[in-house]
Amino acid sequence: MSPSLTVSRIAAHQGPVLRELRTAALREAPYAFGETLEDTLLVDPSSFGDTAALHASAPRLATFLLYTEGHPCGLVHAYIEEAPSARAFVSALWVAPAVRHLRGGELLVNVASQWLAQQGAAEVHAWISEVNRSAVRFYEHLGFGPTGDRRAMPSHEEEAESLFVRHMHAGQHV
Ligand SMILES: CC(C)(COP(=O)(O)OP(=O)(O)OC[C@H]1O[C@@H](n2cnc3c(N)ncnc32)[C@H](O)[C@@H]1OP(=O)(O)O)[C@@H](O)C(=O)NCCC(=O)NCCS
Repeated sequence: MSPSLTVSRIAAHQGPVLRELRTAALREAPYAFGETLEDTLLVDPSSFGDTAALHASAPRLATFLLYTEGHPCGLVHAYIEEAPSARAFVSALWVAPAVRHLRGGELLVNVASQWLAQQGAAEVHAWISEVNRSAVRFYEHLGFGPTGDRRAMPSHEEEAESLFVRHMHAGQHV
């Protein structure tokens, strides 16, 4: 039987959970992200508490956590850039290997996108490493397409990432 997967916005007290998931993601899939495990381990653990508190209630910044049977097993960040661009993004998406291919990633991105739409976003962007072919296929499956924008990855400058976007239509059920 498949485990039941649920998503909810991070709570202010979940700094330790955020640190655990983020370090697990960077350890398991270092090629996917714009920062390194080493950098993250150097960060004062208490700052994850500050981040969790901010992402629990800020109007332009949120983290959503994936749970299987009550255990945290994935995350995604959602944020809206400062004006004038005010572009909306999902980032840092990760699902624990034990629960992959069960639509947890889809659930995370869809819940984050719905939240961004509620904040006024008409489209949602994601930077994806060009070596991360499975993430490209995952995002394409969800209706994201390439914008043509590329840049060097912040933590691995020899690699490039591409900007993808999904347009959110009025009344769209994502
Ligand atoms: C990418 C990731 C989040 C997908 O999570 P997931 O929960 O396994 O994905 P889902 O089950 O929601 O997949 C939905 C669809 O996406 C596509 N997809 C997912 N993983 C895929 C893969 N490895 N290869 C090709 N397509 C894939 C499939 O079409 C899938 O539908 P299907 O199972 O009916 O074929 C997960 O593999 C992961 O955490 N990877 C490492 C970190 C990472 O790459 N993050 C993205 C940074 S941009």
